[in-house]
This record gives sequence, C-alpha cells and structure tokens, in this order.
Amino acid sequence: MHVADHPLITHKLTVLRDERTPSPTFRALTSELVTLLAYEATRQVRTHEVTIHTPVAETVGLAISEPRPLIVPILRAGLGMLEGMTALMPSAEVGFLGMVRNEETLEPSVYAERLPDDLSNRQCFVLDPMLATGGSLLSAIQYLFDRGAVDVTAVCILGAPEGVAAVEKAVEGRDVTLVLGALDERLNEHGYIVPGLGDAGDRLYGTA
Ligand code: URA
Repeated sequence: MHVADHPLITHKLTVLRDERTPSPTFRALTSELVTLLAYEATRQVRTHEVTIHTPVAETVGLAISEPRPLIVPILRAGLGMLEGMTALMPSAEVGFLGMVRNEETLEPSVYAERLPDDLSNRQCFVLDPMLATGGSLLSAIQYLFDRGAVDVTAVCILGAPEGVAAVEKAVEGRDVTLVLGALDERLNEHGYIVPGLGDAGDRLYGTA
C-alpha cells in the first residue's frame, strides 16, 4: 500500500473533506488530486526501450508497452476520477464496471460491464474513491483477475484501515497495489469513512 505524502495532496484533500465545498469545486479538485495520485500509481507501468532521433542525436527512451494499460472506473463515483487519470496517461484504454450491493446478502456483484474481451497480460488501474469495507473493490479486482488481468493497482482518494486490511488479506500473493490519498481513522456504524468526506458520489454529482 502506498499512502500519498505531499502537501499539495493534503491541501486538496482538506478542501474535498470540507462540507461547504460545492460539487463543481469538488469535481475539479478530484481530478487534480487523482492526477497527482496517478503519478505514484503508474510507477510500475510496463515500458520498453525505443530509439529516437532528437534534432541533435540518436537516443534511447521509453514507450508504454502493449497491451495498453486499462483504466477501470467503478460506477458511479469512480467516474469522477477518470479525467484525472487519463490526463496523465492518455494512451491507456478505458473500461467500465458497475458494482451493486445486494441489500439482503450484502454481497457486491457486477451489474454492468464494458471491458475489452481479452484482459490477458493487462495492467489494470481501478478507480474507486472510497475504500470503506473493501467489498466492491475486492469484487472488481477479482472480476479483472478472472478475466485474465496480470496486475491491478487500485487508486482511492481515501481508505479506512478496515477496508485496507480486508483487501490486503484477500489478495495476498497476487500482484495488487493500493494507492491512497490518505488513510483515515475508521469506519462508522453506517459504513462511512471517518473523518472522510461523506458520500463521494453525491458530492461529485450534486445529489447531496
Ligand atoms: N462510500 C462513500 O462515498 N463514502 C464513505 O465514507 C464510504 C463509502
């Protein structure tokens, strides 16, 4: 797990947490914050050497390898993170996963999916702003592995220790990395992250 440690990230997070921050500002700041997190999350992105010519000399640089990395926002709130992620890695492909929780069994499941047919050998970057219990994130990670993904990096704005522990335990031995903007104190009895920022989807899309 990597928890961001940068004053600009903490500054932006502080404004996101503030209940007075309106949706348009919340969306813009989420994008900026995710671009900063994406820098850390893509540290292990697969590249290969390429030879190019500058106006002065031949030199060897790096290019992102095929198959292209896949960015997977989890609907609905993960959509608010997409722009910030593609800003840093515009050549990535984008797939979508919608997760819903069965109100009786409390088990999360996939209700909508738009992913490339073949995920074999793919590096996947899952976007889910709030790592609370970890249930939906874990389901999404499992779904991607079942479809052939080789490694998964989850980018979350905030995480709760309970959710982080649940994900880390369940994915032990697999190539999974968590990148968080901050690790908060705990979950409350309603499943909200404390101190958190409230319901990320409502705050992004103005339904609060
Ligand atoms: N989902 C949210 O949007 N907020 C939380 O605090 C927990 C889960």
